[in-house]
Amino acid sequence: MDMTTSIVDNNFRKDVRRCFEQQAYAIPARWLYDRRGSELFEDITELPEYYPTRTETKLLEDHGSDFAKAIGTGRAVIEFGSGSSVKTPHLLHAVKPAAYVPIDISGEFLEHSAAMLQDDFPDLPVYPVEADFMKRVELPDAVADLSKLGFFPGSTIGNMIARSSVDLLRSMRETLGIGSQLLIGMDRIKDPAILVDAYDDSAGVTAQFSLNLLDRINRELDGDIPVEKFRHIAVWNDHYARVEIYLEAQDDVTFTVDGTTHRLTGGKRIHIENSHKFGLCDARLMLRAGGWTPLCEWSDEQDYFTLILAEAHPYKHAP
Ligand code: AVI
Repeated sequence: MDMTTSIVDNNFRKDVRRCFEQQAYAIPARWLYDRRGSELFEDITELPEYYPTRTETKLLEDHGSDFAKAIGTGRAVIEFGSGSSVKTPHLLHAVKPAAYVPIDISGEFLEHSAAMLQDDFPDLPVYPVEADFMKRVELPDAVADLSKLGFFPGSTIGNMIARSSVDLLRSMRETLGIGSQLLIGMDRIKDPAILVDAYDDSAGVTAQFSLNLLDRINRELDGDIPVEKFRHIAVWNDHYARVEIYLEAQDDVTFTVDGTTHRLTGGKRIHIENSHKFGLCDARLMLRAGGWTPLCEWSDEQDYFTLILAEAHPYKHAP
């Protein structure tokens, strides 16, 4: 076992213990993405109810010439949490970058995205960086003198609470530097029924994605949680403007994790994910709070999803 694996395991153990032993009944959403969870997430992106991926991809396909005009060409494109990088080629075709730097915490995903991109863009220098982009990331020397465009698609920013999103935007500003641009995808507030369906699809794939977290606990932390006694729940919380995802015990359950026995009464919910949605003013304010000045926005006809281009200007004294 390498160092990274054992550090991750210990953090996972700590978070799961906090959930059950300190009765926090919440587990950070990052633990949804083991290998199986990442595969299930890829399946989610193709579900009829899950509109964000296809809506954002269409925006990227349709607005290539707008991007070229607003962003120009020859920058280094830095993608945060590149995952499988399926949307990236549209952007790269439009802005003809001088280099591409995918950043991901998973080396496996990085290899995949780098190889895929290299097939499509054989002459593009690709410099993968394995890192946690929640903190400032040291970029390769080869891109030091290039203007930068950060790319953060998928409305992944919505999976963080406001304070963490602003921290992340600030660290992206530090990573990319003054004068850089950021193209970020944000999912919009809409009819709650559409939102809830997107997170509770009829084929049950999102439910499998959520329940896989319990399987993961059983696999990695020597647990015997009766997974079949839990159900996936998605609810719209209007006050927080977010879809909240829970795993709810259907019955009283007793199980052991990591050598400790826990009891949950029927109806108890474990909070496993938030997916915040944004009004345009919320999105702009959040970007400004993170040190980014919004420049342009592109939305689909239904205003389901928006791509925002922002720039890191030097800080000025406010009146
Ligand atoms: C990765 N993230 C932007 C997804 C979302 O829409 O919040 C995660 C997800 N969870 C369930 N479905 C999709």
